[in-house]
Amino acid sequence: MSSDSLTRRSLLQGSAVIATAAPTLSAASATAPSPNSGAKAMMPVELTVNGREVHLQLDPRTSLLDALREHLHLTGTKKGCDHGQCGACTVIVEGRRINSCLTLAVMHDGETVTTIEGLGTPEALHPMQKAFIVHDGYQCGYCTPGQICSAVSVLEEIAAGIPSHVTQDLDDVALSDAELRERMSGNICRCAAYPNIIAAMRDVYGQSGAKGEKA
Ligand code: FES
Ligand code: FES
Repeated sequence: MSSDSLTRRSLLQGSAVIATAAPTLSAASATAPSPNSGAKAMMPVELTVNGREVHLQLDPRTSLLDALREHLHLTGTKKGCDHGQCGACTVIVEGRRINSCLTLAVMHDGETVTTIEGLGTPEALHPMQKAFIVHDGYQCGYCTPGQICSAVSVLEEIAAGIPSHVTQDLDDVALSDAELRERMSGNICRCAAYPNIIAAMRDVYGQSGAKGEKA
């Protein structure tokens, strides 16, 4: 018998095995829970958002971004890429800025969240919101809520002496443009308002009475 015919026989035997197994696989997939079956296990999630306690029942796969936008209707936080590349969804959780598209709401049960709506109001803007207006730190404005949340956190990080990748002196974190650009590099602006954003941040830093500003 040639090796060719052996190969054909092996193939035929293999096909028979697959044909026999196929109904079993179909039956298994018919009974397996489907993500879209509607039988979702909802989970309770409690958050303090912009000073207000909220109680939600969420599909555990809900991102923090979707919880804010779709369930709490806080649409100031923007969805740009939805996978951690643009920073439009930046919010402040427990005092730290994070990309809300990259984290599940259930992971933040019991935590405090600040969005752009919680930083200031139209009548009483946060100093960073004012500075963005004064320095023209935006054009279309889509990235702006994330930029402002990040900018507020960056100044707090510098004040706390937290170093970045480009920090030269770990004992004295200076407010250089390189430092600000590095720390804001996760927030993309397709309108390229970057120089104006840096100017706004420097303005707020100056208003805070911080010493040792360095170019
Ligand atoms: S939407 Fe979250 S990083 Fe782009
Ligand atoms: S202001 Fe348009 S993307 Fe930044």
